[in-house]
Amino acid sequence: AAATRYEAENATISQGAAESNHSGFSGTGFVNADNVTGSYVEFTVNAAEAGSRTVTIRYANGTSVNRPMSVAVNGAAVQTRDFPGTGDWDTWADATLTVPLNAGANTVRLTGTTANGGPNVDYLDLS
Ligand code: GCU
Repeated sequence: AAATRYEAENATISQGAAESNHSGFSGTGFVNADNVTGSYVEFTVNAAEAGSRTVTIRYANGTSVNRPMSVAVNGAAVQTRDFPGTGDWDTWADATLTVPLNAGANTVRLTGTTANGGPNVDYLDLS
């Protein structure tokens, strides 16, 4: 089945902003989380049934330094994931994660764990 796309610019942003000053994004922009520990983007995604699901995070990191983010689903930490450099801010890459979802609405929060904050985030695809 086709993935459902959740654009980061429509998600909840804490310490950051939706921007469009780099190319190649989906939708109307991407989220630039502030360069501080704890800045986040939180998606609300819907699942038809409970279970383990694959999500794809599209991101850009124009630095050569990893920008790890913790992944929390419905408030529970799932893992901390690496988001290594993509070459420049116009070059996007996919990070695939497995997350445990409930039936109905779920929050998926991506929080930068270093003072650099996370990478720029374009969208979350739920397959
Ligand atoms: C640059 C870039 C931003 C990015 C930021 C960062 O300012 O233009 O899109 O978010 O670096 O380091 O996070």
